[in-house]
Amino acid sequence: MFDIIVNFKAYREGYGNHGRELLKNLCNLKKEGYQVSFAVPFTELYLSREFKGIISQHVDPYSTGAHTGSILMEQLIEYGINASLLNHSERRLNRDIILESIKFSESLNFKLYICSESLSETIFLCENGAKYVAYEPPELIGGDVSVSTSKPDIIRESSDICKSYGTKLLVGAGVKNSSDVSISRTLGAEGILVSSGIVKSKSPEDSLNSLMI
Ligand code: G3P
Repeated sequence: MFDIIVNFKAYREGYGNHGRELLKNLCNLKKEGYQVSFAVPFTELYLSREFKGIISQHVDPYSTGAHTGSILMEQLIEYGINASLLNHSERRLNRDIILESIKFSESLNFKLYICSESLSETIFLCENGAKYVAYEPPELIGGDVSVSTSKPDIIRESSDICKSYGTKLLVGAGVKNSSDVSISRTLGAEGILVSSGIVKSKSPEDSLNSLMI
């Protein structure tokens, strides 16, 4: 199964009434062999819980208790949401927190897509039990040059490393079209993360459809 994660970030198009309309339209698109998830803003998680494939953009490694402002895995699970991005370039965490999060997620069978900015970070994550790593070179995020055209060697190397640990590799940044998907797949990625190419697109459904080749 090839994973596509659409990250709504905090784009204006991604929350409130039009955010939920966008989500509803994108959720209708399906293709065999693809699993599409939607990382919606925190404020949308509860209202979006009826849709399939909703994940959080961030989560904290704590159990219930006095943790003001935290997003708990247990709270998300309560609403049927069993996965989150972690350590996104726009929400970086220190390594101790990442390690705690991995451990805690295992105890709850909660899925973490942990973002990595480099090969060395990917190795660190694999060595420490990450099941999903999402490689995103920060300088390409939100731009028109995609990770697949700009960093093919790193994708290939990351894929080899991830495979040797039984970790699934996703890649993202600048993904806009089917060729980005097919190159990434050929290089060994098992999924992609995409944001502006869908959320900021004039025709988000067509854009998402075009990635499911
Ligand atoms: O999480 C995905 C994101 O960081 C990539 O953004 O706009 O380059 O697709 P974008």
